[in-house]
Amino acid sequence: MSGKILIASDHAGLALKNYLIQNIVELDYTVEDLGCHENVSCDYPVFAKSLCSKIQDREADCGVLICGTGIGMSMTANRFEGIRAALCTTEFHAKMSRAHNDSNVLVLGGRITGDELAREILKTWLITPFEGGRHQRRVELIEK
Ligand code: RB5
Repeated sequence: MSGKILIASDHAGLALKNYLIQNIVELDYTVEDLGCHENVSCDYPVFAKSLCSKIQDREADCGVLICGTGIGMSMTANRFEGIRAALCTTEFHAKMSRAHNDSNVLVLGGRITGDELAREILKTWLITPFEGGRHQRRVELIEK
């Protein structure tokens, strides 16, 4: 992954989002925070839709979504054409979601995954390239 990383969360992902933003900056990526910005109950689909729309409009190539479990963000994001959102709880998930599935949205659960593991998952996800080859055909079949 290169360039700008979009990031968004609901209230249940806010603390992890703020922690990861600092790490993304230290890894020399540009980050655009699409909210939420306050620890007040809010609706995860609003933030998933905002981030996915920007990827569809080519304002960025990829993004990170965080809610409590990661499930609601995943459900919402994967309804958007061209979005391949991967809910990852291990570094292996992150690696394979990039190498085989060309995931363009990383989803994390703020109530599931601790800060340091989330940081390692994010780093693995950012540096792992898509392998292409037979996986390209399979990724194209997702949309057909
Ligand atoms: C919020 O309480 C919680 O439901 C939300 O963050 C997410 O986990 C939904 O999938």
